[in-house]
Amino acid sequence: MKQLDVCLTPDLLHLHKLDNSIVVVADIFRATSCMVTGLAYGVKSITPVASIEECKFLQDKGFIAAAERDARKVEGFDLDNSPFSYMNERLIGSQIAMTTTNGTLSIAKAKSSAVKVMIGSFLNLGALANLLKSEPYDVLVLCAGWKGRPNLEDTLFAGALADALKDQFMLLEDGTLMAHRLYEQGKGNLLASVSNSSHVRRLQRLGIQKDISYCLQKDLYDIVPVLRGNTLVSMN
Ligand code: MLT
Repeated sequence: MKQLDVCLTPDLLHLHKLDNSIVVVADIFRATSCMVTGLAYGVKSITPVASIEECKFLQDKGFIAAAERDARKVEGFDLDNSPFSYMNERLIGSQIAMTTTNGTLSIAKAKSSAVKVMIGSFLNLGALANLLKSEPYDVLVLCAGWKGRPNLEDTLFAGALADALKDQFMLLEDGTLMAHRLYEQGKGNLLASVSNSSHVRRLQRLGIQKDISYCLQKDLYDIVPVLRGNTLVSMN
């Protein structure tokens, strides 16, 4: 039987063996929710990069560039990190370059050793679970966390995915069991279960409220972003 494991922060990724695993990167607030939304709304591709410099380089080559640090848009770039910014007709068919504090860094860390990298969010939970069931590989959910620390919302998502896959995958490691228990405890009211998380408080301090409830909605979209080379494209 295949195994599903959870890495609670990218700083612990070196403890996991990835050579038979699909890595699902999750940054619920808000990078991976933006990626799913953008591709669902017709963006052609999203190239995630770890640094501002790489993002600027791609912007100069003609990409639409999204850059966020500490939940704020970086000056000189085209897009911020709100999923609502990706629901825009002018982005249909476009190629976006994106850098974020934790989400794109996690993708950069995973991509060299994983069999495949996929993007997870509550918004595409069901589509992602169905795709993973059909794959022959183990799964590692990589929670982006915050600057090396674990967070509630990404762990909650890892638990939701574990719950959706528990009949097809073994859930063995304690990190996975912790995530699953967190989800079982919070699944009746996801918003309440993350209401005092550090990133929710950070976003609220910046006046960002509607992104929080938007990113906690399940199964709005039937797409799964998959990394092809250095670029995320939609598999559906
Ligand atoms: C990140 O990658 O850390 C984020 O998506 C932060 C945010 O803009 O909410």
